[in-house]
Amino acid sequence: MNYKQHIVKKIKMEGFSFDEILSNIVSASEATHGDYSLPCFSFAKALKKSPIVIANEIKESFTLDKYIQRVEVIAGYVNFFLERKSFIESFLTEYNKNGAPFASLKANNKTICIDYSSINIAKPFHIGHLLTTAIGGSLYRIFSHLGYTVVGINHLGDYGTQFGKLISAYKRWGDKKQVEEGGITALTTLYVRFHDEAKNDKSLEDEARKYFLDIENGNKEAMELFNWFKELTMLEVEKVYKRLGVVFDSYDGEAFYNDKMQPVIDVLNEKNLLTVSEGAKVVDLEQFDMPPCLILKSDGASLYATRDLAAAMYRKNKYNFDKNLYVVAYQQNLHFKQVFQTLELMGYDWAPDCVHVPFGMVSLEGGLSMSTREGRVVYLSDVLQTAVDKTLTIIKEKNPTLGQEEKALIAEKVGVGAVVFMALSSSKIKDLVFSYDRALNFDGETAPYIQYTHTRCRSILAKSSGVATAETDKLTDDDSFAIIKMLSKFDDIVTTSAIKYEPSILAKYLIDICQLFNKYYSNHKILGDSSREALTSIVALALKKGLSLLLIDAPDRM
Ligand code: ARG
Repeated sequence: MNYKQHIVKKIKMEGFSFDEILSNIVSASEATHGDYSLPCFSFAKALKKSPIVIANEIKESFTLDKYIQRVEVIAGYVNFFLERKSFIESFLTEYNKNGAPFASLKANNKTICIDYSSINIAKPFHIGHLLTTAIGGSLYRIFSHLGYTVVGINHLGDYGTQFGKLISAYKRWGDKKQVEEGGITALTTLYVRFHDEAKNDKSLEDEARKYFLDIENGNKEAMELFNWFKELTMLEVEKVYKRLGVVFDSYDGEAFYNDKMQPVIDVLNEKNLLTVSEGAKVVDLEQFDMPPCLILKSDGASLYATRDLAAAMYRKNKYNFDKNLYVVAYQQNLHFKQVFQTLELMGYDWAPDCVHVPFGMVSLEGGLSMSTREGRVVYLSDVLQTAVDKTLTIIKEKNPTLGQEEKALIAEKVGVGAVVFMALSSSKIKDLVFSYDRALNFDGETAPYIQYTHTRCRSILAKSSGVATAETDKLTDDDSFAIIKMLSKFDDIVTTSAIKYEPSILAKYLIDICQLFNKYYSNHKILGDSSREALTSIVALALKKGLSLLLIDAPDRM
């Protein structure tokens, strides 16, 4: 039962569509204003009537039924009061029948590709990767929950002249054992040294170019080294993915498209889209107010955009996606606009299904600015570990009686959760200054706060003696009803987070549930009241489920 839609169906107002009215209905902020409210201000101009007149007309023509008990007008607002008993009854029936509104939806035959994290081989996995990894990973879970077939793609940056440089540096100054043990850090050191020495020795660049050509031609030694660098990178990165609980179905990266470039060039030629500019081949995009999209360098080598064109075509062919997302920082806005426009010019009717999901930059509060070349990096694994260490100290203080092992497990869930939640909880386009203190504030709008509220529910339930069963009549008071109304929005909120590619909407909602529940907890005795206990168990489930869609675990104690 969707109450909002039910109300809109019954509203009689000429000149506005169902969806227009629906989008104006809001949940009332105070109980005295009913449960749902329709502000009439935006209709006034078109209807040439005052909002108050419109609101009264809607009220007069509205027939009450077993779901809507009362309608009132205050200023230009129409306030709708639900019939509480029927609302609670339908909520509990659905919940008991199929776990709604928290249960995963059944498969819907739609496929969504999500390109996220997409790291560069032999480069540090740093705090700048936090947002793409967390947002992409969360969208992966959210869309799966909604019944989509999701394909998580890590479009590895494993192609480019830098790998020639790395081979050159390794052969000159590298040491097998050192690199084996040092991993990406050792490779970064070699890379930095290459740039230092190349300032004085021009022959180094030529040597690097030669090694890069070797990779392109599949030379055995070059490929072995390159694959080894790749393995070392993946080994480190996978550890972080595991901690974050993110998964990928494909690691087809830039190198994978090396031999899939010809079809791109062929279509571009067929459609007469390639022009020559300073020896390079480009797609002119002037009529769209964009610089040209670079396709082939003067030496015939492909570019980042060429590989993305090939990748998009490959994904359409292989997965037949309904949507193809790229969770990539806003610095690449232009790149994706160019690539999508080019796909459109190539005549692909699926070009509009490709969507860039941009997000802001991350920095560490009080931290250094980063530069890979100069070796100034904040590693994501270090950020996670620091958060976990700090959490352990807090937990030891708050709950000294927990066993050593359990403390460590909880610290891992809470510390990592805190970092992820901070990444997911503000609107993704804003730049984020990461702060441990804010992330780990148990009373702030944080993962630990939600996790703590969840454990509060669990501890009440652990103490309860009987089987908690909810009786409709016992939950009609303002406070219980407010919680049920809030819980009933769960699937709506998850759907909106998906449509807007914005996990922060879900994050904010979980905070709202917690605030409401914690007030409830301090104002009412829950333990011993079977209906309130039952309500508490539903709150616990909503929090656990919601957190899991944000990649966060909810321990039972902390
Ligand atoms: N590896 C790229 C970078 O670090 C991001 C790749 C994003 N995905 C894509 N299909 N272009 O900037």
